[in-house]
Amino acid sequence: MTSVRSGGPSDPGTGVRLAGTAMVVPEAVLTNQDLAQRVDTSDAWIVQRTGIRERHVAGPEQDTVSLASDALRAALDNAGWDPPDLDLVLVATITPGMLCPSVAARVVDRVGATPAGAMDLAAACAGFLYGLNLADAMIRSGSARRVAVVGSETMTRAVDPTDRRTCILFGDGAGAALFEADPDPDRGCRFQAMRSAGENWAALYLPEHDDHVPEDRSHFNGTLGTLQMNGREVFKIAVHATESIIDEALEKSGLTAADLSMVIAHQSNARILESTRRRLGLPADKLYVNIDRYGNTSAASIPIGLHELRSAGRVKEGDWVLFTGVGGGMCWGASTWKL
Ligand code: ACO
Repeated sequence: MTSVRSGGPSDPGTGVRLAGTAMVVPEAVLTNQDLAQRVDTSDAWIVQRTGIRERHVAGPEQDTVSLASDALRAALDNAGWDPPDLDLVLVATITPGMLCPSVAARVVDRVGATPAGAMDLAAACAGFLYGLNLADAMIRSGSARRVAVVGSETMTRAVDPTDRRTCILFGDGAGAALFEADPDPDRGCRFQAMRSAGENWAALYLPEHDDHVPEDRSHFNGTLGTLQMNGREVFKIAVHATESIIDEALEKSGLTAADLSMVIAHQSNARILESTRRRLGLPADKLYVNIDRYGNTSAASIPIGLHELRSAGRVKEGDWVLFTGVGGGMCWGASTWKL
């Protein structure tokens, strides 16, 4: 099979190994029934349109930094690494709280990984996917040996709790994955792609000021500082982007759907996931779905899924896995991996 990799120069002797994973979700659970007390909705409507039954909500003492730090500490334990082993920490998030300093810099400090490089990645729900691709490229290029990629979000604080179009969808949580150089060059990412279509930005945006709101204000809920969404538009773009990037990823990897042990996709909506599964002709147990328990945790959803599958032994060393994610920007991407 041909090896196809986009990105910088690679060391032909260097592959990439997934060395550890972890996830953290806050204790508090918000069910559909709880939401139906607050806004005009119902459990039946939410389950039928989205597949979501409940989501976790960060407590007052938690934020994106604390969730990311807890997930990274647990992943370090899982890998048997010490914090100073890390060369670089990438945190994918669109809910950083403060823009400067980065979440990643504060996480590096909290876990004791100073002076590891630290950088946040803002690619919304595709953020972890972008981070995964960058980690593989950084390690193969020899720029870093051990890289942590964390997806961490407090999305429930980014939505207007009275806007039924958005508040039903999102949950809080974090997931982390650790990668290191491996002598087997075929291990790690075989194909990766990162794409965007900024002309569709108004389908999903978070305006801070009135001049951020597009001319067509029909999908603006009236509350600045909260997520605005044209659900139908996002749905259409997400289905099209996911299908085309998966077709490209399989073709350029020289793989077929039957070669895959698992597809780990961003958990945006059960109906979007179902259309991806049908397109690939995969059996139900090969496209992971946990949106019923966590809602859409944006950049955290892929590493949470990866950790759950790895802990349950449903993905293991040597398996082929396809990662894919799409989100605000619009940004999307895919990555085929030999674990
Ligand atoms: N409860 C009850 N009714 C609702 C709710 C709700 N929570 N939200 C909207 N409605 C109503 C609308 O007001 C509308 O009523 P009307 O016909 O009287 O005007 C009706 O339901 C239909 O609204 P639509 O927006 O057309 O509903 P749709 O079938 O498109 O479902 C949904 C909405 C679930 C948001 C869907 O469009 C979707 O999932 N889109 C993808 C969005 C997404 O995944 N966003 C996540 C972030 S991006 C990402 O992760 C890829």
